[in-house]
Amino acid sequence: MTDLTPISFATTDIEAIATHKGRIALLVTPKADFDGPTAEVDTLTGGALARMVAGEAFGKLKPGDAITLAYPGGMAAEAVEVFSLPADATVAQQRRAGGIMGKNRGKADLLVFAQDTACAAQMAYGAAMRDYDFQDHKTGGDPRAGKITVMTAKPKAAEAEAAPLLAVAEGAFMTRDLVNAPANVLTTDAFAAQLAEMSSLGLKVEVLEEDELAKLGMRALLCVGQGSDSPSKVVVMRWEGGKKDAAPLALVGKGVVFDTGGISLKPAAGMEDMTMDMGGAGVVSGVMRALARRKAKANVVGLVGLVENMPSGNATRPGDVVASMKGDTVEVINTDAEGRLVLCDVMWYAQERFKPVGMIDLATLTGAIIIGLGHDNAGVFSNDDAFCDAFLTAAKAEDEGAWRMPLGKGYDEMLKSRVADMKNVGGRPAGSITAAQFLQRFVKEETPWIHLDIAGVASLKTETPLAPKGATGWGVAALNRLVADNYEG
Ligand code: BES
Ligand code: MN
Ligand code: ZN
Repeated sequence: MTDLTPISFATTDIEAIATHKGRIALLVTPKADFDGPTAEVDTLTGGALARMVAGEAFGKLKPGDAITLAYPGGMAAEAVEVFSLPADATVAQQRRAGGIMGKNRGKADLLVFAQDTACAAQMAYGAAMRDYDFQDHKTGGDPRAGKITVMTAKPKAAEAEAAPLLAVAEGAFMTRDLVNAPANVLTTDAFAAQLAEMSSLGLKVEVLEEDELAKLGMRALLCVGQGSDSPSKVVVMRWEGGKKDAAPLALVGKGVVFDTGGISLKPAAGMEDMTMDMGGAGVVSGVMRALARRKAKANVVGLVGLVENMPSGNATRPGDVVASMKGDTVEVINTDAEGRLVLCDVMWYAQERFKPVGMIDLATLTGAIIIGLGHDNAGVFSNDDAFCDAFLTAAKAEDEGAWRMPLGKGYDEMLKSRVADMKNVGGRPAGSITAAQFLQRFVKEETPWIHLDIAGVASLKTETPLAPKGATGWGVAALNRLVADNYEG
């Protein structure tokens, strides 16, 4: 797994400013007098800092943005990054500043002078999240050398406040590694093996193989993987940090390690992006890791359906009819609408076995959600307003875009089949909603449920304040917060 950059916390040491050889990050509160570290840099550089801060460019900086002072005279550092950050900066602004530090760090040792304890912790989180580089398949040197030191008045307190945040960052790194991994490397076997390793963190991990899935009646899930040489699997990860015997929250992830479309083959252009079609399972895995790492006081079970959707002489055909574990039959009109076939069986299994207090499924389910919401928001569907609002609140607090979409009987009727209980596609209109309607047929009346369509947010072609191009780890922070704010203590 890609390691977090080592981050340590130390008592503010003004002397270190003159001699530190790497990069230094400095916070300037607009309009306030220099003190401590800022006064020292200004003195060492013969007033360069004061001139910068008085200049027009600095005045125009958004909170959390920086100007770099390169190779400053009077100092050993290669650069001082000067951030404009008001004393009442928001968490998002503090993280954004940390993100810039993490991005610009390169291989250099970074020395950060933080304001208060909370700011130190949030900047550390931002820096950790942005300082990610997927190097698994690049030959040559490791560009991830170096470390980060955050100096502040109360380093012990800052370290304690940062610890659960860094657990989330570690979870997000796991998600990103999984989502970025190519499909010849991240096979269903390799994926399950990685999850099994998480038992060392105190998670109870079970891997259900094809014969057990067949016995359970998961024909819908199995029909997706039957054209592939990689065996289909369901992995169950239990974190039992809450009250004994209290019903868990269930997280269910779509883990299609590669989606060719099957016999309803996708066009060649862009098909390589379908290595990320296990994004839902990736987020579930990352959240479970974060919860275990910070020893969350809650019961949460993560379930992922791992399959590969390939065409072959044994693959499911358009027109085939399969029976789900629930018993309902599905006419497979389009083998490329495979995610819902995987999820419906895992969701049913999750409810039958765990009777969860709530169930959230995550999936790179439809291209239509990208048409509707682009890459800024995941689609949120729910049968329970209070549960949904709790999630939306958590997502907002973590600055992870999420937008609620409707459900309704009219959409459900688009799934009527002539030969089976339902078909697996509802036609062109409202493609993301009919996909959600399909899933809702496998949600019990009493189960509060949220479906997150993350096709547009799991992996991006552009960088964001807290992630480089590629896998984002979207959802790990929001779901971790949902658990922290609603299911602990
Ligand atoms: N994995 C895709 C959805 C997807 C598209 C994810 C783009 C990420 C980026 C899914 O399995 C799929 O193929 N959906 C079809 C459904 C259709 C056949 C009803 C789609 O969206 O076109
Ligand atoms: Mn598909
Ligand atoms: Zn898919």
